[in-house]
Amino acid sequence: MVQHLYVHIPFCPKVCPYCSFYKEATDRNKTQAFLDAVLREAEFEAQGLRPRTVFFGGGTPTALSTPQLKFLIGGLRERIDFSAVEEFTIEMNPATVSHEKAESLLALGVNRVSMGVQSWDEELLKTLGRVHSGAQAVRSYAILREAGVPNVNLDLMFGVPGQTRRQWIESLRRTVDLGPDHISAYCLTYEEDTEFFERFQRGEMGPQEDRDSDFFEVAMNELEAAGYPQYEISNYARPGRECLHNLGYWRGSDYAGLGPSAFSTRSGWRRRNVADTADYTRRVLSDEDRFDFVERIDDDSRRAERIAFSLRTTDGVPETFIPENQAAALVLHGLVTKKNGRVFLTREGRLVADEIAAELI
Ligand SMILES: C[S@@+](CC[C@H](N)C(=O)[O-])C[C@H]1O[C@@H](n2cnc3c(N)ncnc32)[C@H](O)[C@@H]1O
Ligand code: SF4
Repeated sequence: MVQHLYVHIPFCPKVCPYCSFYKEATDRNKTQAFLDAVLREAEFEAQGLRPRTVFFGGGTPTALSTPQLKFLIGGLRERIDFSAVEEFTIEMNPATVSHEKAESLLALGVNRVSMGVQSWDEELLKTLGRVHSGAQAVRSYAILREAGVPNVNLDLMFGVPGQTRRQWIESLRRTVDLGPDHISAYCLTYEEDTEFFERFQRGEMGPQEDRDSDFFEVAMNELEAAGYPQYEISNYARPGRECLHNLGYWRGSDYAGLGPSAFSTRSGWRRRNVADTADYTRRVLSDEDRFDFVERIDDDSRRAERIAFSLRTTDGVPETFIPENQAAALVLHGLVTKKNGRVFLTREGRLVADEIAAELI
C-alpha cells in the first residue's frame, strides 16, 4: 500500500528570481481545468493508495482561492481513502495567508503549514524578489496560530547576496522566538534557468563557499541550542515534529504524485508527469499518457537514491550500501561514523554532504 501522496500546485503570486520549482504566475482562467485534471489523475492513482501523509507543494498551493482549495481537497477525499492520514501539509507564501483560508484548510483536514519566510530583513527580501515584508510574515504566522494550526514549519534561506553573519543569526533567533514546530534552513543555490543563475554567470552574484559553510554551522549551533535538533541537512524540528512526509521520501518509501512535474515511485517504477500545466491538463483530461520520464527502479538506482537522500538524515544508510574501503577512508577523515550497522555523517561530513554522496554514487 502506498502511504504518501504529493500534490503539485504550479501557481505563485509572483515568480521569484532564484526558484526553479515548476510554477507559473497565477492565471485564474486556467485553474478550473487544472483542478479537474488533478481529480481525474487521482482516480487513476487511487487504487493501492492509502496515504499516511499528504503534502500540497508547489509553487504556492495557497495561490488557489478558498473555494478552489475546497473543491480540490473535497474532490480528493471522495476519490482517495484519507482515513489513515496523520500529517497533511500545505505550503504557503506569507502573502497568501488569511483567517478565512486558514480556518477552511483546518476544516478540510490540513494539520501542518509550511510557510516560506526566507528572511525577516526587508533588504534581503527585496533582493530575493519576495512579494511580502517581514512584518507581513509575522502577521501571517500569528493568523495561522490563532486559527489553531497545530504544526507550523518556517523556511529560511542563507547565503543570500549581501547577507551578513549578524543578519543570519538574527533571522534564526527571530524565528525561534516565534516558536514554530519545525524550521527548514536552505543554502541559496543558483539553479539553472533562473534569473539568479544568469546573474551568477555574469559575475554579479554567486556562492561563497567559506561564508556558506560558516552560515550552515551557525544554523546548526543556534537551532540545536534552541531545542530544534537537526534531523536532515536542511531540516530542524522539535522532537516528534519531524516532517513524516519528507522522512518517508528520504527513507525510500513509495509515493504517488499528482499534478504537473510531480514524481511518483510505485511498484518498482519512477515516473514524472509532464512539467507544463496546459499540456498536463490536456493530456489527463483526454486520457493520454501524462509522463515525460519513466524509469524502472533497479537495485543500483535504489542504492544511489538511498545514499543521496538517507545519508542526509540522522537515520544514515545501511553499511552494506557503501563499499568497505570507501567507508574506511571517510571514517579516517572524520566525515562519517559507523554505529549498529549504519553509516552516519559527522558534523564535518554534513558540511560536504553533497560531495560525499557524489563520490559514493
Ligand atoms: C515551494 S517553496 C515554499 C512555499 C512558497 N512557494 C514560498 O516560496 O513561500 C519551497 C522552499 O524552497 C526554498 N527554495 C526555493 N528555491 C531555492 C533555491 N534556489 N535555493 C535554496 N532554497 C530555495 C525556499 O526556502 C522555499 O520556501
Ligand atoms: S520560492 Fe515559492 S513563491 Fe517563489 S517562485 Fe518558488 S515556489 Fe513560487
